[in-house]
Amino acid sequence: MHMNNIILIGFMGCGKTTVGQQLARKLNFSFLDTDKYIEQKNGRTVSSIFEDEGEEYFRDLETETIKELIGKLSQTIVSVGGGLPIKAGNSEILKSFGTVIYLEATKDTLAMRLKNDKVRPLLAGNDGLRKMELLYDKRLPFYEAACDIKIITEGKNLTEVVNCICERV
Ligand code: S3P
Repeated sequence: MHMNNIILIGFMGCGKTTVGQQLARKLNFSFLDTDKYIEQKNGRTVSSIFEDEGEEYFRDLETETIKELIGKLSQTIVSVGGGLPIKAGNSEILKSFGTVIYLEATKDTLAMRLKNDKVRPLLAGNDGLRKMELLYDKRLPFYEAACDIKIITEGKNLTEVVNCICERV
């Protein structure tokens, strides 16, 4: 492994947190989730930040967060919010910070996992799944461009995804 942090990116529901925690255990690395970090630091949930301050404000918080963490972390698996790599400049920051891994999941799988989601403000409302599909198409090229390694998660269980990452980093 040539870098000592691993950054997991991908759409909401692709498994960044679950995979990240398992990978950290296997490699004996620390684990950090940017959403959780922001929630703890600000004393409020991502949903309430979106609701009270709007999406732009949250995007700025995300950018500040990775800038703040850069250089401070080592041997850490970092799971970043699904929208973070989309903002201009952020993908370069992520790459300078560690090996960036894109966990690719299909729209069908994500739709299944997210259909009853209650915590993601971007999917709120009756048309949540439709919003998800539109966002998925828009974001796909950004994830592809932002990553060093792409992992196809379809057809793999958690252990297989983790092993696949270990073989490729
Ligand atoms: C978002 C993804 C969420 C969270 C916020 C916005 C997005 O994180 O940051 O709800 O824009 O894709 P997860 O990808 O961990 O669900």
